[in-house]
Amino acid sequence: MEDNKTVNRPTAVKLLGIIFDYLTKIASERSVDKILRLIADFGRDVVSADRCTVWLLDEKKDILWTRVAHGVDRIEISRNNGIAGEVATTGEPLIINDPYSDPRFDKEVDKKTGYTTYGIIALPIRDSDGNMIGVVQVLNSLTPLKKFTKKDQQHLMLAASYAGNQLEAVMLQEEMENTQREIIFTLAETGEMRSKETGNHVKRVAEYSRILAELYGLSETEALLLKTASPLHDIGKIAIPDSILLKNGPLNDEERKIMMGHTTLGYEMLKHSDRKTLKAAAAIALHHHEKWDGSGYPNGLKGDEINLYGRITAIGDVFDALACPRVYKPAWEKKRVIETFRKDSGTHFDPVLTKLFLDNFEQFWKVHNTLSDNR
Ligand code: C2E
Ligand code: SIN
Ligand code: SIN
Ligand code: SIN
Ligand code: FE
Ligand code: FE
Repeated sequence: MEDNKTVNRPTAVKLLGIIFDYLTKIASERSVDKILRLIADFGRDVVSADRCTVWLLDEKKDILWTRVAHGVDRIEISRNNGIAGEVATTGEPLIINDPYSDPRFDKEVDKKTGYTTYGIIALPIRDSDGNMIGVVQVLNSLTPLKKFTKKDQQHLMLAASYAGNQLEAVMLQEEMENTQREIIFTLAETGEMRSKETGNHVKRVAEYSRILAELYGLSETEALLLKTASPLHDIGKIAIPDSILLKNGPLNDEERKIMMGHTTLGYEMLKHSDRKTLKAAAAIALHHHEKWDGSGYPNGLKGDEINLYGRITAIGDVFDALACPRVYKPAWEKKRVIETFRKDSGTHFDPVLTKLFLDNFEQFWKVHNTLSDNR
């Protein structure tokens, strides 16, 4: 089926060029999906194969799965199945040029995909501790003899070992960021739950903060940091008694004073961490009720003495408080919300940020509608 294309084995110089090219691309990539795709292309080109599949090992489910297979959608296979499964089990590389006479080969895959496999190299991808994290498998040599050689196997091994380290680093990073985001949403929701502000409040404030950070010109990374950290702004409310938090009406002076404590309480909870996200969250908890003209709390800071993340979150937080109902107030109409921000720009809110917010108001309003609580 693929016999009309023939490709010569790359010369040593060409090979070095391929390796250098892919390693450069892989080193600058931060997304697991994109790295998997690059490794698949890398493996295919380095041995002049027709296809390359990168399988990731899921130890818990005892399967191999892939998002990236040339010509194939996401598939899962049992760890005990086929050539890739064999490699995942033994950890030994395999090179097979007559798969149909090899009992370990699973003919079902070809049957399903309509492809004819006439040659396979499969070998383990290991992390820096030597643990197997997956299997790279190339199919069908496109060289004139249509056979994979020991040399091909060595080249593929080289590619896999370089790529494996970067893959491991990025998988860890992605895993950590996802875990962190989950923990933070869960924590933040616990804080909000009691105040009967719906779970979506923290998600909306997260999104408003991210958008405003990007409009302000912060990098995507920093905007994402703010998106992760801003939901914790009210975490200190965990320590406020229900009689105040859930009061169905205006607070008296004493209650108001206790309520204001949620800023410093939140800060105290978060300040000990060395994590970038939690450090940002601590600053936001402390600063999100400061006001541009110095009339806010807890410290009466003024202008850019107020942490930028705090100034950004303040706009998202108040926008949400006004646009949504609270135990002590109904939701306001759009027009009234806009007028309030116009009036309070430069007194309550950073005027530069407020202008960006109002100039792009529809974008925020759309998020408000999309993440609304009664759906
Ligand atoms: P929250 O309900 O999320 O409100 C956040 C901020 O949005 C408020 O900070 C305030 O700056 C703004 N905001 C909310 N509602 C209104 C409003 O009707 N008019 C205006 N102009 N701004 C509004 P603030 O005032 O420091 O309040 C902090 C938190 O204290 C509130 O968070 C809420 O949990 C609680 N709180 C404030 N006032 C009352 C109240 O009258 N009754 C009760 N039960 N809780 C209140
Ligand atoms: C296998 O590993 O046995 C399946 C090879 C293929 O993808 O065709
Ligand atoms: C809330 O987000 O529930 C209240 C916001 C605040 O105290 O600023
Ligand atoms: C209001 O509470 O109705 C107006 C509040 C404000 O503009 O700060
Ligand atoms: Fe607050
Ligand atoms: Fe809030």
